[in-house]
Amino acid sequence: MDNKNSFYITTAIHYANAGPHLGHAYEGLLADILARYKREKGMPTFFLTGTDEHGDKILRSARKADMGPQEFVDMNAQKFKDLYEAMLLSNDDFIRTSDKEKHWPGAIALWNQIKETGDIYKGIYKGLYCVGCEAFKTEKDLVDGKCPDHKIAPEEIEEENYFFKLSKYADEVAKLIESDTIRILPESRKHEMLSIIKEGIEDISFSRPERDIPWGIPVPGEPGQNMYVWCDALFNYISALGYGTENDENFKKFWPADVHIVGKDILRFHAIFWPAMLLAAKLPMPKNIWVHGMIMSDGQKMSKSIGNVVDPMQYINDYGADAFRYFLAREIPPFEDGDFSEEKFVTAYNANLANGLGNLVSRTIKMTQTYFNGTITKKEGYVDVPLLVRRDLFKGTEYLQGYSIPYTIEWVLLPEYQEKMDAFEVQQAADVIWKFIGLLDGYITKHEPFKLIKEDREKTENILWNILYGLYFVGVMVAPFMPDTSKKIWTAIGVEAMDEKYGVPLSFQTQPLYEALFARIELKKMEEEQQPAPQPVEEEQA
Ligand code: MSP
Repeated sequence: MDNKNSFYITTAIHYANAGPHLGHAYEGLLADILARYKREKGMPTFFLTGTDEHGDKILRSARKADMGPQEFVDMNAQKFKDLYEAMLLSNDDFIRTSDKEKHWPGAIALWNQIKETGDIYKGIYKGLYCVGCEAFKTEKDLVDGKCPDHKIAPEEIEEENYFFKLSKYADEVAKLIESDTIRILPESRKHEMLSIIKEGIEDISFSRPERDIPWGIPVPGEPGQNMYVWCDALFNYISALGYGTENDENFKKFWPADVHIVGKDILRFHAIFWPAMLLAAKLPMPKNIWVHGMIMSDGQKMSKSIGNVVDPMQYINDYGADAFRYFLAREIPPFEDGDFSEEKFVTAYNANLANGLGNLVSRTIKMTQTYFNGTITKKEGYVDVPLLVRRDLFKGTEYLQGYSIPYTIEWVLLPEYQEKMDAFEVQQAADVIWKFIGLLDGYITKHEPFKLIKEDREKTENILWNILYGLYFVGVMVAPFMPDTSKKIWTAIGVEAMDEKYGVPLSFQTQPLYEALFARIELKKMEEEQQPAPQPVEEEQA
């Protein structure tokens, strides 16, 4: 099972106590970028996201909204689905923990499996509980008597629960983390988890009385108890693959997970509880846990409970899914906290999308249209070795074998891009693309095709061929980040004929761009009309 030829990536499942916010969108985007990248490399990939729909927090929110819990989570889950569709997330499934057909059978099977090992027992829990975290707390978790994340005092509870023998697995889990069998990224989070284990791990509640928490999955064979929401939630990673049912092909094909993507606030559940549960059930361990930082607003974590959330849908509606995806991927560091503001969004958009990428594509297409009617063919005997295709830097050919576009020549920057993507450094991978865009701009500045056209038509054509060839690779590299833009670039450059032997485009038939890829924008706060995109500069008008 461990040498599987597949890739399974998950996000956390998001609480359906309200609609999604930017933090959720960010997590979905990171998973999507990696999933798209893996698929393009030809790897069978399964990308799972979904909603966490049980527990006290949801129930209270439903009551506040004067709705039944099912009706309430149906409404909110739909908002998550709508956002993910608008963001162009390519998730293969969307799991909902209230789904009795898809989630419950696997959750019940896993509970039974752990019970069979003898690791679930009954006891009395007396202590503190934070509804915001849906977690039991000790005094040392609190700051001034309050949960530091939710700024509320936890409630005192005393109740009969089922417990899971987490303590039994503490040493083994520590070894798995220590040895990177479960690799936690970034490294600092690994040490944080190891020191939590060192401080001592107690058994955890695994169920809550139905009387108090009537909204949950009933514990099999134990009327009166419902599964604790975190245990129910973690089970989603395998229930969605059909674990414990007759339709478990996906489980066989994709488990263990290659990457669980989670925020640092819920790492402990994924790095300690979940592996212990899997050990008890004798199932293989996830390979990586990618811990992203928080998107901050006004210096605080963006959170529904705190009420400082930004609506991602508004940005997508105003600026398009790709621009929104670009901003989150390139401007927020993947392993640390990052700040979101409209000002930053507008600045990055104008500098790198409207001016950088958008302008490069539009000026190139315009030159090919104006000088050559859009038809650009590589000429034989061309001697000015293209700056861009450096056979001497050829580094192997595996990278693009999974692409639908045949390809054999390695690009000088692609290995670096690939390295970053493989290390989940999506921000740096995007930097590589923009470095490359800068190179293409520099190539135009150096050769001045807009002047050369008056002296040497053939050489100009070859220079434009090189730029189009560069754009073809920009299209490849931006595809996981900005899928629509990638398609638009390929349509605009119009690869006409390929060299079968080398997989190099021989000719392009470019299509005029009637609309800028990214029209310049202004701060909404200034209430100004949107400006048209920068047009090709006058020297290119021939
Ligand atoms: N339902 C649990 C997770 C169960 S997973 C088996 C939960 N839900 S949540 O909606 O509160 O958070 C879901 C994910 O979104 C977490 O990984 C969390 O870190 C992430 N984020 C929540 N707020 C965030 C930001 N402001 N920024 C980035 N990610 C954030 O916890």
